[in-house]
Amino acid sequence: MPRAYSASGMSSKNATEMLFADTAAIERAARILKEGGLVAVPTETVYGLAARADDPKAVARIYAAKSRPEINPLIVHVRDLDQARELADFDVVDAEMLAKRCWPGPLTLVLPLKRGANLAPAVTAGLPTVAIRVPEHPVIRELLAKVPFPLAAPSANRSGYVSPTHPSHVRATLDRQVELVLDGGDACKEGLESTIVAIRSNRQWVELRPGPLDLNALHDELYEGMDKQGPITRKGRVGETLEAPGQMASHYSPGKPVRLNAMDARSDEFMIGFQQYGGDCMLSKSGDLVEAAAHLYDCLHAAAASMKPRIAVAPIPDEGVGRAINDRLRRAAA
Ligand code: TXA
Ligand code: MG
Repeated sequence: MPRAYSASGMSSKNATEMLFADTAAIERAARILKEGGLVAVPTETVYGLAARADDPKAVARIYAAKSRPEINPLIVHVRDLDQARELADFDVVDAEMLAKRCWPGPLTLVLPLKRGANLAPAVTAGLPTVAIRVPEHPVIRELLAKVPFPLAAPSANRSGYVSPTHPSHVRATLDRQVELVLDGGDACKEGLESTIVAIRSNRQWVELRPGPLDLNALHDELYEGMDKQGPITRKGRVGETLEAPGQMASHYSPGKPVRLNAMDARSDEFMIGFQQYGGDCMLSKSGDLVEAAAHLYDCLHAAAASMKPRIAVAPIPDEGVGRAINDRLRRAAA
């Protein structure tokens, strides 16, 4: 008999199971999801907290487990572009091109919600748009291949805390809130949440969240030498319209004060280092920003767990994925 999961969190009393993400474990995850349960699953960006996106009770459990504000919509994960087309409108120019070019991978597209799409209303928090991506990591891809529905999956952390790039990070804030953690080890090679871009009208890109995929570079490459028909604009920042409602100033909090652009550590600080600025945890000794992104949340988790009451972070160049790193650091410090 299938186990029952309820939106009120009956199962939250049960211990969280953790399984190495082999085929048998992924099959078990698929069964739990079919029954409306929650599974933490590795992706190439961060670990996600997945539920079936077509079931209002299952989706309600995501919000409850994370203590997530209901105004903050979720990203829907799908197998491929065909499954994405069942949920979103790809008519607007550049939407399909970006999907074909960047999927599977760390790009989330915000597009008009398709009429009649089979999604629980809470997934989009009542917006007329939906955020959607095809992830690249083999574990979530195998899981998506085994279930007939799309998966709603925010990062697998309590709302406001540092995002997880390791199964132990998931258990640090969501233990007992989730039926199963699929252990993919250090699966998150990108280490930062996906880049989010809304296509508001033909060729009009609006970057809602910087991430591993550098939109500026891609835009330059695509439109070089042409009339700039669709300059990238940025919204969702503090003081502007909250177009990505989750992008609140205070987020990614390690629970202690964070000092940015630090050249060295004071005696009560845990130092997160970069290049020539050494530290207790190094983002990248060689100054490689991609490597730094992959290590960021690991260092923030280590800093949070350390005995030191404060955190200092070395300066990070604000270019390429450095923009996304600095975005997360500013919020961690807010
Ligand atoms: O890499 C990622 O994107 C990870 C992995 C698990 O896929 N997921 C993730 O989800 O970062 P989450 O919930 O932590 O962030 C989702 C972001 C929020 O800022 C939310 O406001 C925004 O996506 N979002 C979702 N739907 C939206 C919509 N229709 N319009 C604008 N922003 C939206
Ligand atoms: Mg998150």
